[in-house]
This record gives sequence, C-alpha cells and structure tokens, in this order.
Amino acid sequence: MRILVTGGSGFIGSHLVDKLKDAGHSVRVFDMMPYQYRTDVEWYKGSLLNYDDVRMSMSRIDVVYHLAAVANVKDAFNEPLYGEAINVRGTIHILEAARHSRCGRVILGSTVWVYGGTDGLDMDESTPLSPPPHLYTATKIASEYYCHSYSELYNLPTTILRYGIPYGPRARDAAVIPIFVRKALNGEPITIAGDGLQFRKFVYVEDLAEGNMLALNEIAENKIYNLDGREMVTIRQIAETIQKLVGNVEIQYIEKRPGDFSGKDVSSLHAKAELGWEPKINIEEGIRRYIEWFKENEDN
Ligand SMILES: NC(=O)c1ccc[n+]([C@@H]2O[C@H](COP(=O)([O-])OP(=O)(O)OC[C@H]3O[C@@H](n4cnc5c(N)ncnc54)[C@H](O)[C@@H]3O)[C@@H](O)[C@H]2O)c1
Repeated sequence: MRILVTGGSGFIGSHLVDKLKDAGHSVRVFDMMPYQYRTDVEWYKGSLLNYDDVRMSMSRIDVVYHLAAVANVKDAFNEPLYGEAINVRGTIHILEAARHSRCGRVILGSTVWVYGGTDGLDMDESTPLSPPPHLYTATKIASEYYCHSYSELYNLPTTILRYGIPYGPRARDAAVIPIFVRKALNGEPITIAGDGLQFRKFVYVEDLAEGNMLALNEIAENKIYNLDGREMVTIRQIAETIQKLVGNVEIQYIEKRPGDFSGKDVSSLHAKAELGWEPKINIEEGIRRYIEWFKENEDN
C-alpha cells in the first residue's frame, strides 16, 4: 500500500514508519520537521495549517495515518490557540483532503486521555466520554468526532486508535521516563508530581507502532481501539526501576499539575480480539532499552 504518515518525523510516527517499511509498504511522511531515520522514505515538508500542503501530500495515497499534533499537554496548556489550530483544524484538513482524494482510510492517533473526565476506573471503547478536564484532551476528542462525522456523512472510512502513554527510543525529552532517565544519568534527583502512587500503564513505542500497523486490516474500518500497555505501574515504581538500572538516584516529591490524567484501567482487549495485538515488552526491559538508546544518542 501507499501510506502517508503525518507526524512521521516524530516519536511514535517514526516507529510506525519503520514497521510499515519493514512490512513492504511505500511510505511518505508529512511533517514540518525533517524526517531523518531512513533513506527509503519520502519526506513531504508541509504544515497541517496549510490545506494546499495537506492536499498535495495526499496524491496517490491509499491510507493516511494522522499523528501530527501538538502532542505535549503542557504546550496545549500554555498555547491553547496553537493547540486548537494544529490538533483540531489540522485534523479536519486531513479528513477533507482525504475526502477529495482516492485515499481509502484515515487512521487517527488519539489518546487514552479522552477517558480522563469519566467516572470510574475501568474503561473500554464503549465507555461514554465525559467533558474533558484538559484542553489537549478536548482537541483530541474533537478530532475523534470529526472522524466519526466524516465516515457518517461522506463514507470515508476512519479508525481511531487511543494510545496509552508511549515510551522508548526517540521519545520527546518532555515525557516522564525521558525526564527521569536524563536526571538520573546526570546525577540529579528525580522529581514526582503528587505522591507518585497514581498508577499508569505505559506502552513500549514499538509495540504501539505494531498495533498501528495491524489497524490496516479492513476489520478496523470505522472502529475505535485502545492500544495501551499491560502492566499497571506507579510513577514511583518507574522512578525506582530507573534507580535500580542507573544506580543511586534521589527521588523528590512536588505539587500535582492541574488536569493531569489521573490513571484509568483502559482495556485493550478489543484490539487483541480483532487485530491480534498485544504489547510484548515489559516495563523494565523497555526502560533498559531506552537507557541504552539514550546513552548512544546523548550528544544528538
Ligand atoms: N507522546 C504521547 O505521550 C502520546 C500519547 C497518546 C497520544 N499521542 C498522540 O500521538 C501522536 C504522535 O505523538 P508523538 O508523541 O509522536 O509526538 P511528536 O511531537 O514526537 O510528533 C508530532 C509530529 O508532528 C509534527 N507536527 C506538529 N505540528 C505540525 C504541523 N502543523 N504540520 C506538520 N507537522 C506537524 C511535528 O513536527 C512532529 O514531528 C499525536 O497525535 C499525539 O497527540 C501521543
């Protein structure tokens, strides 16, 4: 297939590109930042805000993975207008361009944070969403709704993938595991917002990329899948795992941030049943691989 990956220069997108290439697909990356990981991938330089860029990039494309976004919740908090423009207007640009092209499907990279406003702890794809406490989540829910409307109104098949919190090589510096690892390797204390006892699931980025690729299966048309990790770990456990792998590191506690996803048990059984997807890498092995990658790439 001929596949466009928006945000393919980024963390999750670049791993998805690897999986798609390894499976023999032809891949074009749409991103405003250069794609730098392999030579057998076309980079289309453009911005989601420019509809002409988006339309041109979709020429002769069968499937679009839409991952480009303001992915850092702090950026969406600090710059709501920018977050809305990229995440919401950007998504409708993708959908509208797909509607006017021969593209047969749009697969959206969403987030398990969409469950953040719901009551209760156990979530699956049938859980009704409640008004989101965070602007970032509001932009992702709006994107999901646009996908739904486009498939209803224009018969454009869409798939929504709600990602758990990813970690692994090429992770953005602002995410929790990279921040902890960098501090630990620099001999600085690791700081935890709140008491660190809130649980999280983390999903290793290559597992997540695999789940994305499996969504190419026709069964995934007009469906929603959670792609989350398997193990529940607390932030404190993450810090302690890093402490164990790196050496003697101090752990300090600071005030909780507003609107933080408080931790839900999000089920990925639907993805297992229909796509045959299950995460394979456990947290200690994943962090070990990340530390190895980090040490090799520290100067980049
Ligand atoms: N990282 C996470 O914790 C996480 C969790 C759940 C869901 N997601 C979602 O997964 C997707 C990918 O996230 P990521 O962590 O790989 O983010 P990332 O920041 O590493 O990658 C995003 C990419 O989008 C590109 N981009 C941003 N604005 C653009 C624009 N206007 N035009 C073209 N390209 C633009 C950036 O250059 C970057 O390469 C996002 O949609 C994000 O919301 C991320």
